[in-house]
Amino acid sequence: MSKVYVFNDYGGPETQELIDRSVPVPGTAELAIEVRAAGVNPADWKIREGQLGHHWSLPAPMGREAAGVVTQLGDGIDDFAVGDEVLGLVAPGHGGLAEHTVLRASTTVAKPEEISFTDAATIPVAAATAYDATHQIELEAGQTLLLLGAGGGVGLMAAQIGRVHEFRVIGVASAAKRGLVQSTGAIFVESGPNLPERVREIAPDGADLIVDLVGGDALRAVADLVPDRTRIISAADPDTAAELGGLALARTNEAMGKITEVIQYGLVDPHVDAQFGLDEAGQAIAAVETGHAAGKIVVVP
Ligand SMILES: NC(=O)c1ccc[n+]([C@@H]2O[C@H](COP(=O)([O-])OP(=O)(O)OC[C@H]3O[C@@H](n4cnc5c(N)ncnc54)[C@H](OP(=O)(O)O)[C@@H]3O)[C@@H](O)[C@H]2O)c1
Repeated sequence: MSKVYVFNDYGGPETQELIDRSVPVPGTAELAIEVRAAGVNPADWKIREGQLGHHWSLPAPMGREAAGVVTQLGDGIDDFAVGDEVLGLVAPGHGGLAEHTVLRASTTVAKPEEISFTDAATIPVAAATAYDATHQIELEAGQTLLLLGAGGGVGLMAAQIGRVHEFRVIGVASAAKRGLVQSTGAIFVESGPNLPERVREIAPDGADLIVDLVGGDALRAVADLVPDRTRIISAADPDTAAELGGLALARTNEAMGKITEVIQYGLVDPHVDAQFGLDEAGQAIAAVETGHAAGKIVVVP
């Protein structure tokens, strides 16, 4: 048997539970792993709440990204072997918050030994999203990237990627995250009322690109800081971005491999802020569900 954290119905955290089930078996083009660490993301509670549709059969395993050791190969796998250390996106019907899970081979890469399992578990969703968000529209060195939600799981890595490219990164977050955002090399600007004025004190001409990780009114408030609304990219709120004339984040297949190399070379730190055991997975999800996480939350079975 194997433990997995699930939600039993669409709704609040009270529907979550740690259950036992048989060890999952990989299908064609999938591989099974023993989970060493799994990242927690806002998508976990958004899926549970039904915000992303009701496509998941119940009980639905939770957690989209994981790192671990390959235990079994499905049909059609040539690139991996039992015993390999890997990181990847979980296959449909499976969850990362588990002792064992199943990954899709097409969205799995080898874990370099320089990267710990806890850091590796943040790569498939959060780090790859940060990579895509900072590459969808290419800026040049010296241009200004305004990052809304710079202190969260995706934001802290997007800020660091921006600095690797020598963009001027203006990171918007709450006051408690000033030091954290500044540690990436970004210029910190506090979120809240009159934000555009504070940004213009630093960048009188506004920004060359807005990457939004918050959405809603926070995004509406800064939209005029770019001269051209098509230079707004939102990972958090594609509907509001579209309403403003901006773009939804487009995810790419290449991002996971590229950002794994960047992290391997020590250029970006995933900043795992807290680790929880599998029996504490509810606390881990709750920490992300506040909407005010500082870096990444990881579950270590
Ligand atoms: N499309 C995709 O493929 C994809 C992938 C990953 C993530 N996402 C989405 O991207 C968003 C960010 O993900 P994440 O993992 O970084 O989330 P996270 O770790 O929960 O971080 C969210 C951050 O937003 C900040 N925030 C909240 N309200 C704010 C405001 N008014 N102004 C500025 N910052 C504010 C919070 O910091 P403070 O405490 O400082 O406010 C927090 O650090 C989520 O909506 C997530 O669902 C999309």
